[in-house]
Parts: sequence; structure tokens; C-alpha cells
Amino acid sequence: MSNLETSLQTPPKRLDLTAGYDVERVRQAFPILAETIYGKPLIYLDSAATSQKPQAVIDAMSRFFLKENANVHRGVHFLSVRATEEYEKARAKVQRFLNAEHVEEIVFVRGTTEAINLVAQTLGKTQVHAGDEVLISAMEHHSNIVPWQMLCEQTGAHLRVAPIDDAGELLLDELERLIGPRTRLVAVAHVSNVLGTINPIQRIVELAHARGARVLVDGAQAAPHLRLDVRALGCDFYALSGHKMYGPTGVGVLYGRRELLEAMPPYQGGGDMILSVSFEKTLYNKPPYRFEAGTPNMAGAIGLGAAIDFLGELGAEAIAAHEQTVLSYAQQALAAVPGLRLIGTAPEKVGVLSFVLDGIHPHDIGTVLDREGIAIRTGHHCAQPLMQRFGLAATARASLGCYSTEQDIDALVTGLAKVRELFQ
Ligand code: ALA
Repeated sequence: MSNLETSLQTPPKRLDLTAGYDVERVRQAFPILAETIYGKPLIYLDSAATSQKPQAVIDAMSRFFLKENANVHRGVHFLSVRATEEYEKARAKVQRFLNAEHVEEIVFVRGTTEAINLVAQTLGKTQVHAGDEVLISAMEHHSNIVPWQMLCEQTGAHLRVAPIDDAGELLLDELERLIGPRTRLVAVAHVSNVLGTINPIQRIVELAHARGARVLVDGAQAAPHLRLDVRALGCDFYALSGHKMYGPTGVGVLYGRRELLEAMPPYQGGGDMILSVSFEKTLYNKPPYRFEAGTPNMAGAIGLGAAIDFLGELGAEAIAAHEQTVLSYAQQALAAVPGLRLIGTAPEKVGVLSFVLDGIHPHDIGTVLDREGIAIRTGHHCAQPLMQRFGLAATARASLGCYSTEQDIDALVTGLAKVRELFQ
């Protein structure tokens, strides 16, 4: 028996966090964190781009391919039934993770981007008409801008944008003023990928619903950091990506309220989304299958389920408390770096630290830090309109995860001193 097979036969080791949140133990769950880069220990500060994967997620996906792989919902044979059970178990895990009322409200998609495009091209195309309005905010990622622009081009609707202040907080009065009788949909990020700002979703939902508009929340950057509860938020749709929350790439979730999904036409046509097909007429399946045409990313969904188990073992509150401690440390440490300006200083924020350093291009910062083994992201972060709001072309961005430490921040500050030596 191979080592891998032996390791897969033993149940996944649970993290022992009975004595409290021990970040060193958490780090041991992530094999990649032991890697060296250019001979230096990896300092991974790019979790907002993609998180690293714990062994439990890697094992769950390997186990699927080694022992369970078959197509779901299609076969009567043993493996197909097993694969279907595992895939549907993953859906139930997502339901609990989001506190959704019904498992049918969980649609597996490729990621947040596909979830938003799905809503734009189904609910949007049928319920948004010429002269109607879609409201977004000035801090949106391109994936929560462009699908709505495309819808507006297709329908003759108008895109409206709620402004933010210099700290990176939404101007709620302005947002309220922009929700008018023609607003059909409000689409906002739960957490900004550039600023880290946590938006007041419950309040936004109240304002939108009071005027009959639906609310879609881009939760890609919230899912790894916050306890999520779509019923408490009251939103109509919630989108997330597996790879930001310690799961695999290529899988994500669209949560949609059941009655809304039931009334929506299909997104893509193909296998599994139908009840019956004839050349004269095709009858569509019910949600969520109506929106899952073709063979789905089965291993991805199962890996996402394992990531949800992992987050559950750590505990959302414990992760948030740990990350907030590292964030406060980082904010103080970076504020002391000469010439450094933090972009995104809202009091309610997660561990995303965008910054500029006087006279030094963010790409130069990223390149010098890379040689020190430090991974950050530089550029416009797929949020060009937000960059314009701050009069910038790009920023450097360090972002935290459940495994980030104060030592990571010390290494970043030391690296920034090197950047300054080289460029000033
Ligand atoms: N949206 C991802 C980021 O913010 C890629 O880096």
C-alpha cells in the first residue's frame, strides 16, 4: 500500500485547540508554510488573492480521486452513488456554514465571479428593464462591476455607484439616496478586497428591501474571516469562492433565496439541468440543479466541504480574534514606516493592508520583498475604479489569514526597510 493510501485510510487528524488558538499548530496544518523561497522561510501575506490549503483539504480531494471518483447524479453503480453522496454532503455543509434555510438554496459554481454573472444573466435579464437601475459601490471588485455593466448594456438599464469616504467606508446616506423607485438590485461587497472594510450589510438590505430592491452580496473576502449567516443578513443572494477560504480553486457557491431561484430561468444549458428533453420542448430541473449544467467540480465541492470543516474546527470567532490581533499589530508597525500611507482605515475591517510608499512603485516593493521570501500582491487588485477614487494606479497589499503571525509582520517591516534603502 502506498504512503498516500495509508495516510488516506486514517481519519483526518483534528487540530487540538483545546488550550486556545495556537497559531503554530494552525500553521502546521498547512504544508506549504514550511517551504523556503530563495532559501528564506516563506512569509505568505497574499491570502486575499488566494489562501493556502490545509492538509485536510488536500487529503479530501486526493481521497475522492483515489477511492470515490465517478460522475454524480447519473449512475446506479456503487461509485456514482458514493460520489453523489459526498457531493451532496458538501452542499449540506455549505448550507450550515451560511445558515441557509434550505439546502436547495446552495448552487455550486466556479467561484464568486460566476455566481454574480449567473444572477446578472438570469434574474437580471428577466427582471431588469430599460430605465431600471442597478446600484453598486465604489469599492467593488471588477467581478461585481462588469457583469452589471454588461447587463445594463443588454437591457438599457443604468449603473449607479454609491460613494465612499477617505477611510474607505461606504457613505450610507448617499447609498440610501441612490436607491430609487427604479432600483432593481443592489450589489455590494461584504468585505473589500483592497481596503478590508466590512460593509454594514444588514442595514443595506433594510434600505434596499424597503424600496423593493434585491440585494446580492459579494462574500469572497468575508467567508474566510467572518461568521456568516445569510438569514441574519437578510440578503437575497450571497456569493463566495472556495479558494479564498482554504478550499480549492474552481469551486464557489451562489446562495439564493429559494423562491427567487425557483423563479429564475437557467443560466447554461446542458446535462443535469433538465427534467426532460425533446426537440420540441425541454423541461428544466428545479434549483439548485437547474443552475449546475454539465459535470460539476465534484472534487472541488468535496474539498470546499473539508475547508468548511477546517474553519469549523478553528471557530470563526477564534479566527477573527486572532486576525484582529495581528491586524492591530500590523497597522501600528506599518504606520511607523517612514513615507508609508495605509489605504483603507475603516474601524470595522479585516486583515487587508493596502499601502503606498512615497516615491516607490508598488511593483518594485513587491519584487524586492519577493527576494526576501515575502509574498504580497501589488497592482490595482481588480478594482481600478477604487484606485481612481484614491488617485492611485496601484498599491502594495499585505493580507492575512488564520495562519498569519506578528513575526510575518516583523519580516514585512524589515523587508520594507530594504526597499527604502534600495530606492530612496
Ligand atoms: N480578487 C483577488 C484579490 O483581491 C484575486 O487579490
